[in-house]
Amino acid sequence: MAHEIVRNEPLNYQDYLVAIRAPEVAAKIKPGQFVVMMLHDKGERIPMSVRTTEGDAIVMYIRKVGKTTHQLIDTPVGGTIKHVIGPQGQPLKIEKHGTVVIATDSVCGHAWSYSVAKALREAGNYVIDIQCFADEKEVYPEWALNKNVCDEHHVMTKDGSVGEKGHYTILIKQWLAEGRQIDFIYAGGELIKLKHLARITRKYNIPTWVEAHQLMIDASGMCGACRVFVAGEMKLTCIDGPFFDAHKLDFDSMINRYSTYAAEEKIALERYLAQKRG
Ligand SMILES: Cc1cc2nc3c(=O)[nH]c(=O)nc-3n(C[C@H](O)[C@H](O)[C@H](O)COP(=O)(O)OP(=O)(O)OC[C@H]3O[C@@H](n4cnc5c(N)ncnc54)[C@H](O)[C@@H]3O)c2cc1C
Ligand code: FES
Repeated sequence: MAHEIVRNEPLNYQDYLVAIRAPEVAAKIKPGQFVVMMLHDKGERIPMSVRTTEGDAIVMYIRKVGKTTHQLIDTPVGGTIKHVIGPQGQPLKIEKHGTVVIATDSVCGHAWSYSVAKALREAGNYVIDIQCFADEKEVYPEWALNKNVCDEHHVMTKDGSVGEKGHYTILIKQWLAEGRQIDFIYAGGELIKLKHLARITRKYNIPTWVEAHQLMIDASGMCGACRVFVAGEMKLTCIDGPFFDAHKLDFDSMINRYSTYAAEEKIALERYLAQKRG
């Protein structure tokens, strides 16, 4: 069954809100899970977080990075893609913790944080949402952020051009040093920052779960490409994740393996852009 694109709108110069009809996935997907898409039968499988659902469509935030994401975003509303597979991965356990911080500096996090914040708030938590961007060119319009699903909302930019200056790691560190009560943290984005966050929150014994972003190839537990080590035990991000306890994750092995296919990906994108230019 082909899946129709029903929305395709820019959020900034590189990220797009894309909504695609996928009734079976939309009916089942839970906060923390993701989908895998294929534009055609022989296409690359691209994993994608889901922000929310609108009727029988799933809503995603997608960054143009390589060949497949360029092709997808170049497909207009009314166009179709071949496969939307999912829900994949484990849903997050939504419980009442007290004060929960949700923090991210990546397009994936800007997407999943919405449904996670909404569910945690509905479960009775006080939800603090922190969305980090590089600068004002990157910041999404207000309607595309999480203001309406959290109790406290912070936008941060590296250069301070919009919102508070800095990064969520700085803000969380400052709050903890001041004695602010935080009972649980969910975070996603740049691995090096997540590693830093884990170091900070371990000191205060605050449960911290992070999206362990790894390259996925089959995204179905067969190839082992997305493996991570949690307390020394191998886990597959596509099956057991993508969220894991940050205090048990081996960040260094994840960081080392993340750029394995960078050279091949660069060539594929250059070929696609050359073809597009004619
Ligand atoms: C669980 C999960 C959720 C994700 N959610 C989002 C999201 O909400 N929005 C979004 O824009 N992107 C998301 N991604 C990343 C997205 O899958 C990649 O950007 C996409 O596969 C790139 O394909 P490409 O052909 O355009 O680029 P490629 O040329 O294949 O790759 C370009 C760069 O994208 C990253 N990447 C490529 N393939 C993968 C992969 N299979 N898994 C992870 N990263 C990859 C790498 O940094 C790579 O160097 C998610 C990835 C995972 C694993
Ligand atoms: S991507 Fe192949 S096992 Fe997870």
